[in-house]
Amino acid sequence: MMKPFTALCAAVIVLSELSAAPSAPVQVAPGIIPQPVSMQVAAGQPGFAMGEGIRVHYSVSRSEAGRAAIRALQAAGVSVLPEENVSELSVEQVRQDNKEWYAVSVTPEGIVLRVAGPQGLYYAAQTLAQSIVKDEAGQPAIPSMQVEDAPLLPYRGLMLDPCRHPQTVDETCKMLRIMARYKLNRLHWHLADDQGWRIEIKKYPRLTEVGARRDETPTLANHEVGDGKPTEPFYFTQDEVRYVVAYANSLGITVIPEIEVPGHSSAAIAAYPELGNADVPGYAPKVATTWGVLPYTYAPKESTLRFLEDVFAELCALFPRAPFVHIGGDEAPRDQWQKSPYVQNFMRQHGMRYAGEVQHWFTRHMAKLMAKHDRRIVGWDEILDDGNAPADAVVMYWRSWVRPSAMRRALRAGHEVILSPDSHFYFNFSQGKLPEDPRYKPHGCQKAEQDWRHVYSYNPTPANLSAEEKSRIIGLQANCWSESIADGAKLEYQTVPRICALAEVAWRPAEQRNADEFLQRIMAQYPWFEEQAINYRREDGSPARP
Ligand code: ACM
Repeated sequence: MMKPFTALCAAVIVLSELSAAPSAPVQVAPGIIPQPVSMQVAAGQPGFAMGEGIRVHYSVSRSEAGRAAIRALQAAGVSVLPEENVSELSVEQVRQDNKEWYAVSVTPEGIVLRVAGPQGLYYAAQTLAQSIVKDEAGQPAIPSMQVEDAPLLPYRGLMLDPCRHPQTVDETCKMLRIMARYKLNRLHWHLADDQGWRIEIKKYPRLTEVGARRDETPTLANHEVGDGKPTEPFYFTQDEVRYVVAYANSLGITVIPEIEVPGHSSAAIAAYPELGNADVPGYAPKVATTWGVLPYTYAPKESTLRFLEDVFAELCALFPRAPFVHIGGDEAPRDQWQKSPYVQNFMRQHGMRYAGEVQHWFTRHMAKLMAKHDRRIVGWDEILDDGNAPADAVVMYWRSWVRPSAMRRALRAGHEVILSPDSHFYFNFSQGKLPEDPRYKPHGCQKAEQDWRHVYSYNPTPANLSAEEKSRIIGLQANCWSESIADGAKLEYQTVPRICALAEVAWRPAEQRNADEFLQRIMAQYPWFEEQAINYRREDGSPARP
């Protein structure tokens, strides 16, 4: 893990003691995703010959910045060779307001990276990884070029849902590598829902003993019909969580955990029935075996808060770098609260007129709890239904159909907002033409088809927002809900290349994007998709690795 960047020496420049040999002329311009803000390529000139890798003088690795650059290059798949007599890499820290800013200068003699902070090293490394092309002699080379770059939006995320169908540690890490390639920097990890609790919590072992398995699963062909097969228990141990978090960090990605409060909590309530509204008629919590919105919500009790306090304390310890912790908050039905004599009495005592105020009680308490750990909460946009949320809560906008707009409401109320509208960024939704194999049937395909062109057409900062409102749109996220995503191959099919479009929407202003030109750059990624054995969706809708 890197030390604070301020502790780094300002410049680590080692001039070549021996000159590197130039490559043959390089005619091919790299097709980088997301397109850098400024990129000048000396077409037809000799570039930097990659040879076996970038030769790096041992003195570069004497500094933290140098070591961090080497690690970032290696993580991006760029070979680095220790050298005694030659240095082809130098790293420099410069002052810039945008801490994600970086610049890359490539000449036949070597590569100079300039960064404003540690994140820039990851992006410089990925830009270089995507810039390795063939010179006229057919050898790997990076064209002579000057790149200066910084993202439009600071939060660029992908959400994975291991609750409905799990993804293994390896599948999760593969998604992290894909995210890193396109300079996404946040994995939102949806770790608890009605259909499964997926993270080991030491203080509450029944969360995984009971909550991490279910009696059956809706079939892919027909969601109304269960498969009759109990699942194996599936959850991430705390060691596995630490591994994924460290792996993400090594790629410049911060993991934001989510535990749903107060709805989507059947699995937790099945494990500890006293957490729910036990006095409602027919109370029989179990880990859900159907999709959709389930009635089980937490009961507003001090003992429930103590449970949440303990669970989120373990989360904060496992995710030390997460500035936010996601508390869910979507689709929390009010029915049980309306039927529970305990909750009705609780509401009278607290002067509450609407059951929705019970959700606010939870949201406020969660914000206070997280503040003790120096974290802010993020919640789905329902945290603003029926009342206000704490001012520093980040709102994740997803309900594109709600009027007046849930995004605008959040902005008007002064919140920072992450955009993940289901009209554009739901990667579980259909992309148009489908393969024959029923495994590829999408879930929730009632929404408009969302192929990469549709994702690419999104404008995150429409002109009718004020400058101040625009400044509170902190980023974008795509969500891969997994009701119909039962394996890694399907996850990849649903995600790639849509993730490329998402990355560029978060990086480049809408007026600078052109979908036909972008298609050329997507196709330039195919060799990398093949090399990484990614089951990407081809232009004709077919999966690359059926
Ligand atoms: C959501 O799709 N329920 C956030």
